[in-house]
Amino acid sequence: MTPAQQHAIETLGPQFCLPFRASLLDFDTVFGRRAPTVLEIGFGMGETTARIAAEQPEHNFIAIEVHAPGVGSLLQKIEGARLTNLHLIRHDAVDIVENMIAPASLSGIHVFFPDPWPKKRHHKRRLLQAPFLHELALRLRVGGYLHIATDWAEYAEEVLLTLSLEPLLKNSATHFAPRPPTRPQTKFETRGLRLGHEVFDLVFIRV
Ligand SMILES: C[S@@+](CC[C@H](N)C(=O)[O-])C[C@H]1O[C@@H](n2cnc3c(N)ncnc32)[C@H](O)[C@@H]1O
Repeated sequence: MTPAQQHAIETLGPQFCLPFRASLLDFDTVFGRRAPTVLEIGFGMGETTARIAAEQPEHNFIAIEVHAPGVGSLLQKIEGARLTNLHLIRHDAVDIVENMIAPASLSGIHVFFPDPWPKKRHHKRRLLQAPFLHELALRLRVGGYLHIATDWAEYAEEVLLTLSLEPLLKNSATHFAPRPPTRPQTKFETRGLRLGHEVFDLVFIRV
């Protein structure tokens, strides 16, 4: 972690980082207003997150990351762009979803380039498996969306199949979705494209 990231956590953390706790968040209280709220899981260094929040001031964003330098980095961006519609939680996303996010409360969920481990022995620990995807679907309000992007073809196919079998969700496309203009190219995506990977977007709607 750089001294600037550490400094951002110390000075801006109290205002923009929510502590993990085993009770449901009240979004109206967190943001001081009532607005549609989007959850992001695994924002990395947060470049895309800050950009999306700046481009959609009418939405609230709660962004989750376990990696401390990323949290420091995104806090710096929040301050730089004077964002008031983005709060962070530094904790495991599975715990947060299960304990802090009320059913049918989210208008969207972003999971961009999770699990960068293509090896078969790592598959067991992948985040996007049927039980957790069901938990995510339960947190969306009717009409809300789950947007996943990955550059691993085999992971993309597996998640597509799992989501197609989830009765709470309906595919917005017939197979993979075109990349929505609201998703800027992420840092990890840039790396994947440099390596010659194809990128897959999946956008499913809560029914
Ligand atoms: C490959 S990076 C992608 C980062 C960013 N979304 C991008 O596209 O550049 C995946 C990120 O997800 C985070 N992550 C993975 N599993 C997580 C979990 N269970 N809870 C919170 N963050 C998680 C990792 O720390 C990592 O920063």
